[in-house]
Amino acid sequence: MTSFARDARGYACLGGMRLDELLTQAEVATPAYVYDLDGIRKAATALEQAFGTRDHLVAYALKANAAGSIVRTIRACGVGACLVSGAELLVAEGAGIAPTRMVMNGVAKADWELDLAISKGLYGIQAESLEELERIAARARAQKRRARVGLRINPGVEIDSHSHIATGHDAAKFGIPRDQLATAFERVAASSDELGCVGVSVHVGSMLTRPEPYLESATAVCEVIKEAERAGHRLEYLNFGGGFGIQYDDQPIEAPARFVEAAIGLSERMGLSALKLVVEPGRSMVGPHGVLVARVVQHKQGKSRQWLMLDAGMNDLLRPALYGARHRIEPLEHAPGALEWRVVGPICESSDDFGSHAIGEPSEHVVIRDVGAYGFSMASEYNGRALASEVFVDAGKLVHVSKSPGYRAWVERRLRA
Ligand SMILES: Cc1ncc(COP(=O)(O)O)c(C=O)c1O
Repeated sequence: MTSFARDARGYACLGGMRLDELLTQAEVATPAYVYDLDGIRKAATALEQAFGTRDHLVAYALKANAAGSIVRTIRACGVGACLVSGAELLVAEGAGIAPTRMVMNGVAKADWELDLAISKGLYGIQAESLEELERIAARARAQKRRARVGLRINPGVEIDSHSHIATGHDAAKFGIPRDQLATAFERVAASSDELGCVGVSVHVGSMLTRPEPYLESATAVCEVIKEAERAGHRLEYLNFGGGFGIQYDDQPIEAPARFVEAAIGLSERMGLSALKLVVEPGRSMVGPHGVLVARVVQHKQGKSRQWLMLDAGMNDLLRPALYGARHRIEPLEHAPGALEWRVVGPICESSDDFGSHAIGEPSEHVVIRDVGAYGFSMASEYNGRALASEVFVDAGKLVHVSKSPGYRAWVERRLRA
């Protein structure tokens, strides 16, 4: 369910508020991200409810969007955190999530990040290689603590997704190959003062549109756990990762709850219903509940194209340039018409291109839809452009504004460098 809609007069709205009025009230200039916390709350609650009575941990992947207002909203729904850095751990903790409800991934966690994760007592530090297991053991030994590790497996599964967001195939840098897992379990068992293996996890990639590929990699997790149990290892959780897709266009997509139902069914069929079931969604919780509002700086009549040039570019929203992703772009002040425009940003790169969109008569502003996930979190200051402002609405009210630091902050930092 998206938070985006139009009112009776055709104005673009988010969370029931007109976006033009909201930006005036928030006193921010474009480009500006706007998020609907109520939509995020509903998505988190629906996912929690999908588990019913099953022992579980929904670990929100902060990489999708680590804004404090969002993480606090999600935490209040009983959700934990999935981290990929020490900084994300500190944000999650600062937002009130207990470390015992956090799991951490990352192929090359730095020593300080391992030290932090071990000292905080994370629910699972998910090792992505035998080499990393050795490092975790050494850091735990130095702290005289026992690290709770999970083994992130590489299931060798190909998914139908952009190659940059597929992580579970043999050539990917992620996870421990299956033929090294027996060694990994033995390694952990041999140093029980330092390491306790508590779970097995997987994440095959993002933007899954249906549960089948999810179940394929989840089956690999279940098989690994069964084998480990037969070898005498006792585990606490199985973690099937994130990856639930969202509707970026008009194509229907399976709801996250369907993935959860399928995951519960699989774990029961595999005789693993006594273990905690962990999932790591990011995009599905926040993606549909954020938009990026941009100003049309100018039009340009090219030889073969009509360009619409925005004040938001690939530095604000990288997904189109990075993954060839397509986000719907619509006028802010009126409903879209038939006239097509090639929509681009101001950055000095040809890939700063959001694609062709039926905008109709050009408006003063446009709305780039479904950017709540992997939008601001991937933003940069490339070309000396300031990070965008962020505006948060909840239940039809403006509740928080995080203003852009402005370009002068960039100028000062570069001069000091
Ligand atoms: C290990 C891991 N878990 C969870 C996620 C979240 O995935 P998504 O946002 O597609 O749900 C990611 C994202 O790439 C990830 O790398």
